[in-house]
Amino acid sequence: MSTTAIPTQKEVFDLLRNDLVAIESEFERLSGSEVDSVTEIASYLREGGGKRIRPSLLLLAAKSLGYVGSSAVRLGAVIEMIHTATLVHDDIIDGAETRRGRPAANTAWGNSKCVLAGDWLYMQAFRVALDERDFRILDLLIQLTQQMVEGELLQMERLSSLLSEAEYYELIDRKTACLFRVSMQLGGILGGAPPELDEQFGEYGRHLGLAFQIVDDVLDLTASEEVLGKPTGSDLREGKATLAVVHALKRGTAEERAEIIAALEDREFNGPRYARILATLERLGSLDYAMHAAFAHAEQAKECLANLPDSEYRRALLWAPDFVVARDK
Ligand code: IPE
Ligand code: IPE
Ligand code: MG
Ligand code: MG
Repeated sequence: MSTTAIPTQKEVFDLLRNDLVAIESEFERLSGSEVDSVTEIASYLREGGGKRIRPSLLLLAAKSLGYVGSSAVRLGAVIEMIHTATLVHDDIIDGAETRRGRPAANTAWGNSKCVLAGDWLYMQAFRVALDERDFRILDLLIQLTQQMVEGELLQMERLSSLLSEAEYYELIDRKTACLFRVSMQLGGILGGAPPELDEQFGEYGRHLGLAFQIVDDVLDLTASEEVLGKPTGSDLREGKATLAVVHALKRGTAEERAEIIAALEDREFNGPRYARILATLERLGSLDYAMHAAFAHAEQAKECLANLPDSEYRRALLWAPDFVVARDK
């Protein structure tokens, strides 16, 4: 990796390759249960891949502080297992049929087994975290899991209703940004981050997570299902008003607003209605508005690293926000 420039995706991947391979093996080792359906579902979820962005952040945070040791790999697996548990539960709640370009686990095993497999994964993650014998780690993970559950519950309570921007941000802060924040803070704990840096790592993760979910929500509206690997248009169909929609509901004509509200309430719409809503979002600049908000959080994330000494890991952390806003899946 060059000494000053922001790295490429391949350079970041090369930098983390060995640890990411080790995290996969750890995840695999930890996915085994005496009960076959747990092992089958957990393995299916793990084999589906995924970007592994959260454990990558944990590794980068720890290594940017000179951490050497095996706990980063173990906690990376813990974070990915918690993420996986939230996805399997989220797909049940959302009634999603695809995830990572394959049938969602709930379509193959049914909701009941998948709820339990998700619970098992949470507990397995906590059991591994407990081995670290560090209350700060448990404290972070317990708060995190409760906040994520609260985020999903709040979202459910607000379905089909008109959100303010502040409410939208509160939701995505809990359901997504928290896990990014905690990934960074766990890396900070391993690397012995002083309190000020712990705070800056946390804020970096939070801003990155907000940018990440805003982009996820824009992609839900604009991407193709083949590229994204999960259903598109699903947020509207599930009654979820995301940032672009919140923007359009403030600025559209009465007719445009009525159409969007009807889509959110009916939880079902046809191609022409969806095309009209997308045209409205375009006309009002709502998609650009959301992307600008994502860019702003990505920039704020980078600013949080101002006091971190230069290293290839810091440069990789400066690359991550650009990756998050430019991604197409
Ligand atoms: C999906 O997260 C859930 C959201 C917070 C939007 P990712 O997009 O990181 O999912 P994978 O792990 O790469 O599949
Ligand atoms: C992410 O929200 C929720 C989680 C924290 C799991 P979404 O419902 O938008 O996630 P996707 O789009 O299904 O991945
Ligand atoms: Mg979902
Ligand atoms: Mg989504």
